[in-house]
Amino acid sequence: MDAGDETVIELSKVSTRFGDHVVHREIDLSVRRAEIFALIGGSGSGKSTLLREMILLHRPTSGKIKVLGNDLDALSEADASALRLRWGVMFQHGGLFGALNVRENVGLPLREHTKLSDALIDSLAEWKLTMAGLGLEVGTQFPNELSGGMMKRASLARALVLDPELLFLDEPTAGLDPVSATGVDVLVLKLRELFGLTIVMITHDLDLLWQVADRVAVLADGRVEAVGSMADLAAIDRPEVRQFFEGARGRAAQQSAAPSNRNQAGTSWKPK
Ligand SMILES: Nc1ncnc2c1ncn2[C@@H]1O[C@H](COP(=O)(O)OP(=O)(O)OP(=O)(O)O)[C@@H](O)[C@H]1O
Ligand SMILES: [Mg+2]
Repeated sequence: MDAGDETVIELSKVSTRFGDHVVHREIDLSVRRAEIFALIGGSGSGKSTLLREMILLHRPTSGKIKVLGNDLDALSEADASALRLRWGVMFQHGGLFGALNVRENVGLPLREHTKLSDALIDSLAEWKLTMAGLGLEVGTQFPNELSGGMMKRASLARALVLDPELLFLDEPTAGLDPVSATGVDVLVLKLRELFGLTIVMITHDLDLLWQVADRVAVLADGRVEAVGSMADLAAIDRPEVRQFFEGARGRAAQQSAAPSNRNQAGTSWKPK
């Protein structure tokens, strides 16, 4: 079997209700190893909730989710803890602790889950900050001192600190200027290329989708309306799919006079 065909996340008939409010109706999805898989859908269509269900933060009302071969509904506490070490998450709203500086925030998962020395944890945190394109001086700053783009990168550094196999990104470019957003495209591609990471991301950013997504699932009305490459989706004539191409505006359109700086932004990745 081709390694690229290995399924690492599998959802079968996943339904979610909050009281009477039905969010997901028997969703089937699968994500393959080393794939960059995107979830798109209108606000409130249940993207973040679905992501939270994949990372053991919320239990679906019914259906089955398997991650890295584990049925999430049948995990012991010990197995759940072990599985949590195998993924990293960048939350929609950053999720950094305001009372900790950036280096402490990034090192936190290592402090919680390993017995490494403080000095080693600080070094590893600094390495991940560099990977995420931040200077070492950012490590001693506090979250409220960071720009939106720096906050996203710090949050990404924390998501990477345990060297995960799976990376979940909820709106990685939301609120960023086009140049910073372009840096995120480059980062995501490098992470997959260098570490073979499987990436599941939620985004409204058409440019990011075209640049990095291998496959995209469209959520609407509680169901997966379509799954395919952006080119596949662009050819679909149903309104539930078309609205994302016609209604949403790409980064280029938002910055009408912006010079093209896609390639220059690639220098923000500095592995050494
Ligand atoms: N804990 C909760 N309790 C009750 N309702 C919830 C809860 N979490 C989510 N919902 C509801 O589920 C629906 C889906 O929410 P979700 O955050 O998953 O949407 P989303 O697609 O991520 O939206 P956005 O694009 O705005 O981030 C919304 O109607 C939301 O109000
Ligand atoms: Mg959301």
